[in-house]
Amino acid sequence: MSYRLSAHEPYYQTPRGAAYLGDSRIVLSDDKLVGQVDLMVTSPPFALRRKKDYGNVEAAEYVAWFLGFARVFHRILKPSGSLVIDIGGSWNLGMPTRSLYQYELLIELCRIPGYKFHLAQEFFWYNPSKLPSPAEWVTVRRERVKDAVDCVWWLSKNPHPKATNRNVLRPYSESMETLLANGYKAKLRPSGHQISAKFSKRNEGAIPPNLLQIANTESNSWYLRACRDTGLKPHPARFPAGLPEFFIKMLTDEGDLVVDPFAGSNVTGEVCERLNRQWIAVDSVQEYLDGSRFRFREQIIGNWLVREIKARTKKARSVVAKRRKIKKG
Ligand SMILES: C[S@@+](CC[C@H](N)C(=O)[O-])C[C@H]1O[C@@H](n2cnc3c(N)ncnc32)[C@H](O)[C@@H]1O
Repeated sequence: MSYRLSAHEPYYQTPRGAAYLGDSRIVLSDDKLVGQVDLMVTSPPFALRRKKDYGNVEAAEYVAWFLGFARVFHRILKPSGSLVIDIGGSWNLGMPTRSLYQYELLIELCRIPGYKFHLAQEFFWYNPSKLPSPAEWVTVRRERVKDAVDCVWWLSKNPHPKATNRNVLRPYSESMETLLANGYKAKLRPSGHQISAKFSKRNEGAIPPNLLQIANTESNSWYLRACRDTGLKPHPARFPAGLPEFFIKMLTDEGDLVVDPFAGSNVTGEVCERLNRQWIAVDSVQEYLDGSRFRFREQIIGNWLVREIKARTKKARSVVAKRRKIKKG
């Protein structure tokens, strides 16, 4: 049975979750939710210069606007819960300089009593498929490079939120595979770090860095095809499934409750459904929720992280095996 709020009717439901149409400040104020949520993972509207259909807020007003949500989010999180915010940067009007709004937001969220969060860790999502923009500074005057990284703030209510990096291990790199195959002599590194013999023990995988490289290239998914076939406009600012998936795996267990308060096309709900987490999604635009229903007709994204690990491990191992063969001669 999916998680039901007491004061609001879901727009639609699945076995594990429910999507609500409305302002998340209101929907998530439901008393039933207080202290119940394990993870909030979301991508709010950014303070972009170029306006999106769903109404972004100007950088100057952004922090005040977001703090109205932060109070509600803090109230519904468990003490061990996390709030993960994917937030892109913005350029200042008419200038090749950057707004500081996402840093101002971070500082305010960690400063103000009442919803004082801790910065558990900052992450950066690198999207290699981002187009060069703004054209004026990047492709015309060539004064700046393309902006291909979003900040992802991982905030928590206490300094030790529930988390394990064991759930998000990566395949070993080629050089690490070589090292594991050939053995490693314990020694002092030039940096002064003492690397012990334990370093050459094969664990289940490599601990990932806080730079997540995930291309946002969904072009022929069930969701997009269904939107096309039904004449619904696909959401213009979707994040890739790999982004919420990373945090859902690292910060929750099966059966835990995950909330996306700016759900858009409900990628978060779809990932939760597949990973057996309960979920609540809220968006204020009916058309986006209408389109998002298509995600639950078929599980189409597949297990991105597991697939990625298997493919890369296979490749790294075969390179090492080939090298050995050549060496043997
Ligand atoms: C960047 S989009 C999220 C896209 C989503 N991550 C996806 O992959 O489809 C931000 C969303 O926030 C929604 N939104 C804006 N203000 C809202 C509010 N007060 N309550 C709920 N949703 C809101 C917008 O309609 C928009 O769909």
